Amino acid sequence: MADSEITGRGNWNSKLGFILAAAGSAVGLGNIWRFPTEAASNGGGAFLLIYLVCCFLIGYPVMMAEIGIGRRTGKNPVGAFKALSSNKLYPLIGMWGVLCGVMILSFYTVVAGWTVSYVFEEIFFAAGMTGWATWIADTSNGWLNALFAVAFMACTISIIRSGVSNGIEKATKTLMPLLFIVLFILIGYVITQPGSGEGLAVYLQPDFSEVTPGLVFAAMGQAFFSLSLGMGALITYGSYLSRKENVPQAAALVTFTDTLVAFLAGLLIIPAMYMAQAQGISIFDSAGDLIAGPALIFQVLPALFHDLGGVLGVVFGVTFFMLLSVAALTSTISLLEVPVSYAIDEFKIKRKDAALYIGLGILAISIVIAFNTGLIGTIDLIFSQVGLPLGGIMICLFLSYVWKTDKALDELELGNNNFRNSIVGKTWKVFIMFICPVVILYNLLSALGLF
Ligand code: TRP
Repeated sequence: MADSEITGRGNWNSKLGFILAAAGSAVGLGNIWRFPTEAASNGGGAFLLIYLVCCFLIGYPVMMAEIGIGRRTGKNPVGAFKALSSNKLYPLIGMWGVLCGVMILSFYTVVAGWTVSYVFEEIFFAAGMTGWATWIADTSNGWLNALFAVAFMACTISIIRSGVSNGIEKATKTLMPLLFIVLFILIGYVITQPGSGEGLAVYLQPDFSEVTPGLVFAAMGQAFFSLSLGMGALITYGSYLSRKENVPQAAALVTFTDTLVAFLAGLLIIPAMYMAQAQGISIFDSAGDLIAGPALIFQVLPALFHDLGGVLGVVFGVTFFMLLSVAALTSTISLLEVPVSYAIDEFKIKRKDAALYIGLGILAISIVIAFNTGLIGTIDLIFSQVGLPLGGIMICLFLSYVWKTDKALDELELGNNNFRNSIVGKTWKVFIMFICPVVILYNLLSALGLF
């Protein structure tokens, strides 16, 4: 990382470094907190199906586009658009991305803080200190929310200050497999319990009558959020990538890993909700809809861990929320890295200063959210559900009609010989030029009731 110390820019250390970092950025609260919540409130199976289609047919092509733009220019999202065209308007695409990233990070930090507070909740509960457990887990306590958000942002800032971190690359390598193991064990436990079968059916049997414009809108927003697309996080990560790497393959691995973790999280949470119902816990609201929303995962899972009881309960509880915190951390660093790389490249600010001041600025917004958690839904709607797909359309159109697909294909062929003549390459071109922008736009307009 000496390189990053001198120039302020960095490179991935190892061949796998990029894939791990990009997968770390993708796998986060989006998979374990947001996906099951969205699936639960959008009819389960139908949502899952449309989500998978969005990830592989829309998300994957856009991911290749972002990484390609980043690697070609070696720049942050704003600088990348500047480098590829002399028209002053296009960098606005990157600025919109930076703004979305800043706003997403501001609420993400608060939710990530909750995952840390639940590590303590599990420990207090196991120690018999139930009063403390209930106190620390109160997500309506603004001061506590703010405290944990400050702690979480401090970790994020310190990692970004030390450059494109080797430490986090290593940590991801050991922690990701651990996350898979814990998920598998928990799923194994849940699906053998009474009541969970109903949840499995809701999750795995699509009811096509549930497919509405609203559902498709939610699934697409979720796909962009979960894959970290639409705001230039992968332009930034791509800018640190070596020309030797195979972009289509790396993007496929990242998409697959991320989707798998989301699928597994749904397999855990939705049956667990029905299992809770079998134990007499109400999981429907007065309107007869499944209880969903930011707090869902923080209600269902602790109930499950407490139900497990004993050493097993506390080990699972603590490990699960610790891993969730780590998954969140590898995502917050990618969100902070975007405005930081912008400040470093465009304003020649030192990495350490940029990380500190931008991080603190975003933290100020987080603190406002900590005291008004109702804002999360609105910010999420504007900057992730609408903002990211909108960014995605602009990236597709820019690549196709300003930069041109042929030049993008030249870039993608570095590390993947003759990609343009492969089936994936030919399909990619059609998707990025026509299908992705049209489908995303149609989806946004129909959700707004304009179509
Ligand atoms: N993908 C992350 C998650 O699923 C969140 C995230 C990290 C993100 N970086 C991003 C979302 C960039 C949008 C854009 O939790």
